[in-house]
Amino acid sequence: MDLFEITGGARLSGAIPVSGAKNAVLPIMAASILTSQKSIIHNVPDLQDVATMRKILEYLGARVSFSGGTLTIDPSSVSKSDAPYEFVKTMRASVSLLGPLISKFGSARFSLPGGCVIGSRPIDLHLKGLEKLGVSVGIEQGYINAESSGPLKGTYIFLGGNFGSSVLATCNLMSAAVLAQGETCIEFAACEPEVVDLAGFLTAMGAKIQGAGSPLIRIEGVSSLQGVEYTIIPDRIEAGTFLLSGIMTRGKVAVENCCPRHLGAFIEKLKEAGIPVSLYDHAIEADGSRGWNAVDIVTLAYPGFPTDLQAQMMALLTIARGVSIVTEKVFPERFIHTGELNRLGSNILLDGSGAIVRGVEGLKGARVMASDLRASAALVIAGLAAEGTTSVSRVYHLFRGYEKFEDKLASLGASISRKKDIS
Ligand code: UD1
Repeated sequence: MDLFEITGGARLSGAIPVSGAKNAVLPIMAASILTSQKSIIHNVPDLQDVATMRKILEYLGARVSFSGGTLTIDPSSVSKSDAPYEFVKTMRASVSLLGPLISKFGSARFSLPGGCVIGSRPIDLHLKGLEKLGVSVGIEQGYINAESSGPLKGTYIFLGGNFGSSVLATCNLMSAAVLAQGETCIEFAACEPEVVDLAGFLTAMGAKIQGAGSPLIRIEGVSSLQGVEYTIIPDRIEAGTFLLSGIMTRGKVAVENCCPRHLGAFIEKLKEAGIPVSLYDHAIEADGSRGWNAVDIVTLAYPGFPTDLQAQMMALLTIARGVSIVTEKVFPERFIHTGELNRLGSNILLDGSGAIVRGVEGLKGARVMASDLRASAALVIAGLAAEGTTSVSRVYHLFRGYEKFEDKLASLGASISRKKDIS
């Protein structure tokens, strides 16, 4: 396994381009099997999760090639409709194949995704919605057996759960409904930009979808879809992570090829903390040179503050002026990074699904361990500002979701290197 060794203290400056959005490309890759024609997808990030989804598509029978950020998927020979445990356990987003497989074959056998380190992640909303579309669902020996006796039938689906809506359930049901007979209404749909991107892809394929990006999505079923050429939106979480990296070092960093509109809640919080932020059509620049004040954060579904930036923002707040309260409303157990941040000298106290972050003067380098994708990024951000050397082990989590992470940071002036973990 690899680790990152970071020597803190270098002030980051410059600009980096943002890659395509991981959370958009995965359900779009899954939806590409809804036709038997080839699709060409541009701005695809070279990530472990993309490689995993490619492996599953190839297992199902698709022919896939990936070069220079362009992914070509030829689903004409897809013949299997099962997703075994080996695939689902490594990437929960593989669940976004469930809707397309049922739509294509009328049945699917899918390993149940387990819990994960950011907390329990049920799929009841996915299954409830599929049942409304006419699919009977049984669970046996850790597998979901889903089967419909005829074509899927358009229906009304209320998708709200205890924690609001679900991004991947919305994607799954939208993908399942585009070829269903009649109209489907998904109420309490997730509004994330990645849902809108999937709707854009499906619409380009010939689907009839209205309202994506709002809580009410209407889908008029069509009889067939075609292969398309499509470009993935920029990754808003990557953009936020690099802005925070720059600010944390009291530097000035710009992220380019991004969509500032997708980061409204995050940008407002930076401004509230007293950080000057400049917005351009496709770029954002933030200046950390004056330091920043404590701010309270509550993570919410889009357009609220994204849970996928909570850990990285918390890293920033560890050295803010004052006391911040961070409340996690999407995944209430997503705080495993706090213990590791405290190893670097921060003062974070957990209180249920909230964390009290008392800003300290500075952090000190130490050995820390990454536990999940975004927590890994938070530890790197903290290490960039810590005095001395920080080593972050288990950074394989990072490669699931960040393309060329250490290269991009190094291009901004960070002292970061990848090494073999021999401990
Ligand atoms: C997606 C993102 C993930 C992000 C999350 C929330 C992808 C590949 N992943 O995950 O990066 O952190 O959205 O923005 O797009 N829930 C239920 N029942 C369900 C499904 C979800 O109760 O059937 C709950 C979850 O436990 C959680 C909340 O709903 O509390 C939101 O989860 P969800 O939106 O489903 O997350 P994902 O789509 O898995």
